[in-house]
Amino acid sequence: MDVYGLIGNPVEHSLSPPMHEAAYEALDRDARYVTFEPPTDGATDAITSAETLGVAGLNVTVPFKQDVLSAVEPTPLAAQIGAVNTIDFTTEPPTGHNTDAIGAVRALAHHDVTLDGNAVVIGAGGAGRAVAFGLADEGMSVDIANRTVKRAQKLAADINETAVASSVSPSSLDGLPSLLEDADVLVNATSVGMEEDRSPVPANALHADLAVLDAVYSPLSTRLLEDAKAAGATTVDGAWMLLYQGVEAFEFWTDCDPPVEAMNDALRGAL
Ligand code: ATR
Repeated sequence: MDVYGLIGNPVEHSLSPPMHEAAYEALDRDARYVTFEPPTDGATDAITSAETLGVAGLNVTVPFKQDVLSAVEPTPLAAQIGAVNTIDFTTEPPTGHNTDAIGAVRALAHHDVTLDGNAVVIGAGGAGRAVAFGLADEGMSVDIANRTVKRAQKLAADINETAVASSVSPSSLDGLPSLLEDADVLVNATSVGMEEDRSPVPANALHADLAVLDAVYSPLSTRLLEDAKAAGATTVDGAWMLLYQGVEAFEFWTDCDPPVEAMNDALRGAL
């Protein structure tokens, strides 16, 4: 039996176990997905122990995504983002991937959104970093708007320092309406809208030529997505991003075609 899992603290409400176990069941794989909650200073010990015990792959969540960097060989993208959320133990040393970035890209692609124009990313925390690097990597020109402008400036500088061809600009949240005039894609990577009926964007700044991805998945239909729908925009809820970061991890771990529909059904059923 292959053992996969998640380390985080806390992990009890994670949606990854039902999503991955649904994939094993759909493919009749002899595998289990287990959650582990090491102490907050125990990330590297947990990685070493998991490897020793023969765990085949681990997802990593808060607060360990940065801490595990020193225990793995990060991919260039994970190193640039500065965070790892998926570890593959079949390589030596273990490889650290960041599938949050590609999760956003694939969530948009699933909805036939073309990723070659202008993107606006709201948020410059962990999620914002991954999404902004992911979209810039696709060749989009990216504006990052954040409440704390200094954080947006740091992220823009980090992306512009890499070999990514596109240019990335920082902004305050006040700049959003003018940034959105020419935008093709908008991603909310802040926690605004989580368990609250509030949007980080004035409704009248949204328009029909936008595709809007909200990384918030609780609730699934956020105020931002409701406003975007009313404006005629394409909308993509946060469960798609969660799904595709998991699909990407599944692909790294198993080299199998992922049963995306079964994973999506299980994820939405658990939400
Ligand atoms: P995550 O890893 O989920 O991205 P994080 O690193 O704590 O979490 O980042 C949270 C993001 O949400 C940040 O961009 C934060 O803005 P600041 O950098 O200014 O803190 C943003 N955020 C959280 N609460 C917010 C609020 N009430 N209004 C606007 N932005 C908010």
